[in-house]
Amino acid sequence: MPHLHIKEFKDIEFPKSYKDVSFNFIAQNAKHRDEILISVSVEEDDFFLLVKQEENKKLLKSDKLTRPASIHSVHKALLTYGELAKLDIISSNVPDKEKNTHLELSTALKPIGFFVDSFPDASEMSIEVGFGSGRHLLHQAKQNPNILFIGIEIHRASIEQVLKQISIQKLDNLLLLDYDARLFMELVPSNIVSKIYVHFPVPWDKKPHRRVISSSFIEESRRVLKVDGQLELRTDSENYYAYSYETFINFKKTILHINKNKDIAISSKYEDRWKKMEKNIYDLTMINEEYSPLLTMEGSFKFSKLKLSVSELIKLHGVTKRFDGGFIHFERVYTLENGVMLRISMGSFDRPEHLYLIVDDSSIRYYPNLPLKSKSNLNAHIFLDEVLNG
Ligand SMILES: C[S@@+](CC[C@H](N)C(=O)[O-])C[C@H]1O[C@@H](n2cnc3c(N)ncnc32)[C@H](O)[C@@H]1O
Repeated sequence: MPHLHIKEFKDIEFPKSYKDVSFNFIAQNAKHRDEILISVSVEEDDFFLLVKQEENKKLLKSDKLTRPASIHSVHKALLTYGELAKLDIISSNVPDKEKNTHLELSTALKPIGFFVDSFPDASEMSIEVGFGSGRHLLHQAKQNPNILFIGIEIHRASIEQVLKQISIQKLDNLLLLDYDARLFMELVPSNIVSKIYVHFPVPWDKKPHRRVISSSFIEESRRVLKVDGQLELRTDSENYYAYSYETFINFKKTILHINKNKDIAISSKYEDRWKKMEKNIYDLTMINEEYSPLLTMEGSFKFSKLKLSVSELIKLHGVTKRFDGGFIHFERVYTLENGVMLRISMGSFDRPEHLYLIVDDSSIRYYPNLPLKSKSNLNAHIFLDEVLNG
């Protein structure tokens, strides 16, 4: 994670543009005053830089929640802010050289908005969830030039590694997305995907709500798969296998194939590790046999007029509100020059969305992006609007 360690944080006058970076405004945590967010825009990317107190120094890095599509935007924002505010930098891991050419050349990494605006159109399409080192995904894309592959991963280092390979191997049938795959599935049109690969997902034995496989993930998979399309789960965890089997079989109608220690064409990094340890590997393949209704999404993310005062909004810090099928958790409250910013998580328990909400004199709005237009987010938005209206 790129960062600067600095002696003291220094403010600038906002808004300010310098060297193609715009610093828009600053937000200060209402409870922990030494935590600060700086809103930044670089090219297409809108995100926050975060200032945090550490023992006897401060840390300046990018905020996890609003991660930009390009790591170079973070580098640029950090270095530019450092220069503009004349920060005293103690240490830094930000390279001041230009972009790595492979990363610069690759346009394979897409922001979520790319899929929201217009979902790619291809006669055959497959998805890999949590591709990690990308061995399987790259192999599939290379072997099947006529299939469009979408790889979804939340680990930035893995994404960068695969991006380099896409450029080196000159693959033009592979798109990557840095996003929670469970949410992504909700915007995929119905009946268009041939295969969904979920290989060696994290078992999350102690936090099962974080698992990729769940009833709702299977439901979405069935909707997006073509007739005869497949969802392929491969795991070394007997517990995860048993849990997944139960979850699949709970559907009224389902076709499942089970394999133990099946060899496939390419062995991933994790698979190699488990094989060395002589662990069993389980495959659960669900075949979809039904045509699904088209995806329709009614509703919007508009807010009514706000009734809560600034002090009432600040009191929301740490509050969780539940509704039928979901929740809203007000994680943090920040003060702005003329308003308040809330960091919230909302939606359904097994695929929550994390976002910011700005409340100022004139409006309430999500920042920098709207939530993903999914059924669970639209329901959560209606509930959030009610909460903000007392
Ligand atoms: C144990 S690794 C397996 C990686 C790879 N499939 C392999 O076989 O080597 C699981 C990967 O899933 C990713 N992951 C976990 N939850 C995810 C989610 N909700 N959406 C997308 N990726 C996720 C993790 O970042 C991690 O890289």
